[in-house]
Amino acid sequence: MQDPNTFLLIPLIQSERKRKIFTKCQENGELSGMVHSEKETTELQFKRFYCSASKIPDQLMKDIVEQCIKDSEYAENLCNNVFNNEIVTSHEIRYKFQINVLKNLISELQANNVVVPDSMFDRLGSLMGMKEGEYVERVYLTDGGDKVLAKFSEAVNQLSMGTTGLSVWQASCDLANLFRLIPSEYNRILELGSGCGVSGIAIAKMNDCCVTLTDYDDNVLNLLEENIAKNDLKSDTEDSSANNNQATVRSLNWCDFDFSEWKEPTDLIIAADVVYDTALLASLCNVLNLLLRHSKAAIVACTRRNESSIECFEHHLKMAKLEIVEKFEYENGAYTIGENSYHYASIFPFFSTLKTPTIFYNIQPKNKLVF
Ligand SMILES: C[S@@+](CC[C@H](N)C(=O)[O-])C[C@H]1O[C@@H](n2cnc3c(N)ncnc32)[C@H](O)[C@@H]1O
Repeated sequence: MQDPNTFLLIPLIQSERKRKIFTKCQENGELSGMVHSEKETTELQFKRFYCSASKIPDQLMKDIVEQCIKDSEYAENLCNNVFNNEIVTSHEIRYKFQINVLKNLISELQANNVVVPDSMFDRLGSLMGMKEGEYVERVYLTDGGDKVLAKFSEAVNQLSMGTTGLSVWQASCDLANLFRLIPSEYNRILELGSGCGVSGIAIAKMNDCCVTLTDYDDNVLNLLEENIAKNDLKSDTEDSSANNNQATVRSLNWCDFDFSEWKEPTDLIIAADVVYDTALLASLCNVLNLLLRHSKAAIVACTRRNESSIECFEHHLKMAKLEIVEKFEYENGAYTIGENSYHYASIFPFFSTLKTPTIFYNIQPKNKLVF
């Protein structure tokens, strides 16, 4: 039997109420809140992928070309609303990515005898004259798609300065998206292995709460500070009494953690893509065990790269006397829970050549279950 106070995620995904909202809004043809991403236009989907420098899915690209064929003004509007949109031009979204998308689109339009607007060639020309720096930006948009929700600098190369933490990874985007379903009552969130800070920073912005972002690599810790400043979150040095919209960076090494010195109060622990090096998993699970003494649950998002590291993680959780209260997957815009799928398109798109799901764990200390 499960303690009714156990923190659970699956009911939030399955929520009857939210499904009713979907149905109602679909009937009314309204676009609002939760359902917005389910019903967004092809152009808005395209804009989300473009701003976050995620490869445009083939079908979406085909839909865009179709629209340009059908409507002579569509390509011009796409230039105004996406390629030359201020959100795009004022950020350093990977130039190589933008050039590739524009080149592909132009060649598809030409192959279909669609007149390519001059503004599209102009934008391509100016991008080709720009020099990529060592860091690029990913921009994630609000539900409505007209404003920036959060933005992040990351290193151009996935493995840079000997760490994986200077790049954004799929699991952090999927974890941020999951938090759109989690009520904002959890005010103090601690992230382990934050990397660029996508999950923690996006959650602080969406849920108006306090996050503590941790990592152990100095370059990663500096980048976290930069990304906090970029997102206009308060730091604890500015206002130590603030309990919302605040982000703090702390060094926390799983292999050298002194719990007696740890003073950050925490409601929930989060971590994304921290299960990849099996040699680190015993230390990571030990840190989870200690931190869970004072917080409700840990939500860990893992990329299923290989079965053995996932098994090893589950083994170490057991050794640390931690319970997997829930486990489910997210892939292609849907959660899989048992036999059922629950569609919930992401506003944090991420493209990976790996084509593998994100596994979510809800982890709690064993004594949270009462029999
Ligand atoms: C694959 S990256 C994931 C980064 C980020 N969570 C994301 O998903 O985009 C793994 C992160 O774990 C951090 N990490 C690795 N070993 C660690 C340790 N012993 N203590 C703390 N953090 C560590 C790395 O610095 C890196 O930021």
